[in-house]
This record gives sequence, C-alpha cells and structure tokens, in this order.
Amino acid sequence: MTTATMSSPPKVRLTQNLIDGKWSDAGSRATFDTFGPATGEVVAKVASSDKTDVDAAVKAARAALECGPWSKMSARDRGKLLFKLAELVERNADELASLEVLNNGKPIGEVKGADIPLVVETFRYFGGWADKITGDTIPVDRSMGDFFCYTKREPVGVCGQIIPWNFPMLMAAWKWGPALACGNTVILKPAEQTPLTALRLGELAMEAGFPPGVINIVNGFGETAGDALVKHPGVDKIAFTGEYKTAQIIMRNAADTLKRLTFELGGKSPSVIFADADMDLAVRGSMAGIFFNQGEVCCAGSRVFVEESVHDEFVGKFKVAAEKRRLGDPYDVKTHQGAQVSKEQFDKVLKYIDIGKNEDKATCVTGGERFGDKGWFIKPTIFTGVRNDMRIAQEEIFGPVAAVLKFKDLHDVVKQANTTIYGLAAAVWTRDITKAFAVADGVRAGTVWVNCYNTFDPAAPFGGYKFSGQGRENGKDALSAYSEVKTVWVNLGKR
Ligand code: NAI
Ligand code: MG
Repeated sequence: MTTATMSSPPKVRLTQNLIDGKWSDAGSRATFDTFGPATGEVVAKVASSDKTDVDAAVKAARAALECGPWSKMSARDRGKLLFKLAELVERNADELASLEVLNNGKPIGEVKGADIPLVVETFRYFGGWADKITGDTIPVDRSMGDFFCYTKREPVGVCGQIIPWNFPMLMAAWKWGPALACGNTVILKPAEQTPLTALRLGELAMEAGFPPGVINIVNGFGETAGDALVKHPGVDKIAFTGEYKTAQIIMRNAADTLKRLTFELGGKSPSVIFADADMDLAVRGSMAGIFFNQGEVCCAGSRVFVEESVHDEFVGKFKVAAEKRRLGDPYDVKTHQGAQVSKEQFDKVLKYIDIGKNEDKATCVTGGERFGDKGWFIKPTIFTGVRNDMRIAQEEIFGPVAAVLKFKDLHDVVKQANTTIYGLAAAVWTRDITKAFAVADGVRAGTVWVNCYNTFDPAAPFGGYKFSGQGRENGKDALSAYSEVKTVWVNLGKR
C-alpha cells in the first residue's frame, strides 16, 4: 500500500456487518456516517444495525457454539487459529495502520509502534493459552463414599463485546483473544466512531479459518445495536469498555437475563512525583501518561501530583516538553499528536478547558485551545493551581489536558490520590524504594507504575477498582471472565 496522507487516505472497502461468515447490510438497509477526525469529513457509510441484525448474529453465534466445527475443535486447533490471525495482522500491518489513522485520527507512528504490535501479541498470547486452560482434581471428603471430583473450564457461551473508539483494533483483540481461547463465540459491536479496522480484522479472521458464526461483527449505535445485544436472552455475557455511566445502563438492562458482565471503564489516574525523583524521567513519563493517544486513554495520568519543593521546576520542564510536541497530519511519521476522535469529544475537551479556566479558576500555563482550523486537534494543555475537589481534577476529560496538583508528603498524596470515584491506574516517581512501595500499596487502583507509565503486555492483567471497572482483561485473569467452572463428582462405586 502506498503511503496515505490527509489528502489521499486509504480506500474503505468493508462497511457491512459480518454475520455467520457473510457480509451483509443491516436488515433495514440503514447506514450511519463515520468520519476522519483529521479532516472532519465523512469517510464511509456503515451498516446501522438494530434488533433484527443482532438477532441474526446471536443465532449464528449460538449455532457455531453448539454444533459445527468450532464446537468440536480441539483447544490446540483454536490456538492455532489465533496464531494464524496474529500472523495475518502482521502481514497486513500497513493497511490496518492506515485505516486506523483514517478513522481514529491517531498518529501513524503510534499505531505501528504500539497498537499493531500489541494486537499481534495479544492474539499470540491467548493462542498460547488455548490448550493450557485446565481444571483441578479436588481432594474431597471420603467419609461419605469413594469419590473422584474434578473441575473443568467450559466456555461461557455467546459473548457480546461492546468496545470504544480510542484503541479500536486493540480493544477488539483484548476481547477476542481470551474469548476465543476459551471456546466462546463472539458478537463484536465496534464503536460507531471507529468501525473500520474491526471489519478488516473480521475479514482476516475468516481468512485465518475461524468457522462461520464464531466471530460476528454488528455495527451501529450503542442505544440500538449495543442495547439489543445487552438485552438479548441468547447472549450469555457482555464485555464492555467505555464510560461508567454506560456500564450502569448496561448493568440495569442485563439484569433481566442475568448476564455475566465485565467492565473496563474510565479513570482519573494520579501520577505522583516526589522531590527525589529523576525529574527528566518523571517529565517524560508524565507527558506520555497524559498526552499519549491525544489523552484518549482510560488510564491517562490526568492528575499530576508534584511535591511542593519541586513543583515549579517540574512545571517549567513539563511545559517546555508539552510545547515541543508536534501536532498535525497523523499520516506523517514525525507527528506526535493527532486529532480527537469526534466533534463530540473535541467539544467535550474544550468545554473542560473552559471549566478549568473559568469555573475552577485554575491557571492554564500552556495550550488551552484548538490547533489549526480543520479537523479536531487540541493543543497539549496544562493547568496548575488545581485542587483535587475541582471538576477538572474529578471528572474524566479524555483529552490532552493535565491537571497539576501540589502535595506535602506521602500521607497527603495517597489520601488525595484515592479521593476519586475511579481506581484504574497510578504512577509514582521516586528514587526511594520505601516511598514507591508505600504508594503502590496505598492507592486503590488496578495497575501501579513505578518510574514508568503506560507499559502494557497481554500477559499482565489490566482493569479497575471502584468506578473503573469489574473483572480483568489480559493475563490469566482474563480467562476466568470467559469460562464457567464445572465441578464433576464421580462415585467410584466402592460403597
Ligand atoms: P460510551 O461508553 O457511550 O461508548 C462505548 C461503547 O458503548 C460504544 O460502542 C457505544 O456504541 C456503546 N454504547 C453506548 N451506549 C450504549 C448502551 N446504552 N447500551 C449498549 N452499548 C452502548 O462512550 P462515549 O459516549 O463514546 O464516550 C463518552 C466518554 O466515555 C468519553 O468522553 C470518555 O470519558 C469515556 N470513555 C472511556 C473509555 C475507556 O477506555 N474507558 C473509552 C471511550 C470513552
Ligand atoms: Mg456514550
């Protein structure tokens, strides 16, 4: 594929639903527009699904689960299909990266350096698990008889997977990897903002040899397609990534059918910088923490806590570093920061910048406005003089906006760090191992980074405490969310 630029984007080929191994329009023939954030223009019209389409996908997924080749396939062969899919993603990396940039607005360097390798490794990691998902033999009481008792892990069933737009391909991989390793069948509902790469992944999955009905993709809006999946009695589990308010709706709507639920939600993650930290490392890490992926990261380090004595030094360096970031054409390999995903998100971030300036009366030391006059770009923005009870310190902005807060000592910062509804991630920057452990132990968060930020690996569990989620993705822990435990008692017939 030739290098695409803002003026010559890649051609969009796939816009339909993938149901039972076949591409189809929505039953109603309805479509919705999906955009290119760097230009603000429509790049494709995609099938807009409702209950009828979800119903067809559930039928296909149920049939594939209960009969057909997938239901009889050995775990090892399921693993091989995931390996094959990983290989196909690698082979088509340029095309996938180009599509992701087109639809999401993130810079090509990051897609190729982070998203694609993580997608590949996620499929490989879970492919490796497929034939290692075992039960136990249980040493039960023998006074009642001679029993052999064992457990096995079975698939949960048909899994509805509802994903957001910030890492469209990677979120699909995090959902498919463990689900397929455990033998489930899936129906993916991509975000309406960014459906394009999931569709290409679906096509590659068919090429890899996943049988029809094992992987289905239903496009559309949350309130229609997503809602129908959540309420469908033929769906056994919903795995959702997005806003906690949506998770609350899903929880209510899933109550009637008592679905299994896992959630990966938002955050207001603290990055804690002690006076003894390697300041340049802390500046680089805090930059990556908040500005990576345009700040559209659930674990973004959006609250930067700095020990009083080094506050001014840190802010000076942080500002210089933020101002060096190159914004613009996301197809340029030199670009650090692309566009926010949608007009809605662009407006939301600008609204919070306004709240920071006017309602919270914090000091905006850099950024604080859009970049350019085309597309949805926002300058890296830093607020100082932030108190933890301000809205910009408590509400998820999901954009390139850092709130810098001061702290006095370890006790003070752990308390402030925990004063939030969220608990997804935290970071601590210090040369003192005692302080590092004290923060790691003291913060209620699913991931803690010590002298680093945003390190990910499919083998390392990821998920949140409190309003940041329920259950874990990645690692061995993800497997328990996609399997039921069956306990079998066998009377050996001695009595
Ligand atoms: P959202 O939570 O509404 O959307 C995420 C996914 O859920 C999309 O696929 C959407 O179609 C679907 N969805 C929406 N309503 C649904 C419903 N009633 N039933 C079933 N599915 C539904 O997030 P949205 O509106 O795109 O963004 C709003 C805010 O959420 C962002 O500004 C950000 O703060 C947060 N967010 C957090 C993410 C994370 O990674 N934790 C990812 C995306 C957004
Ligand atoms: Mg929403």
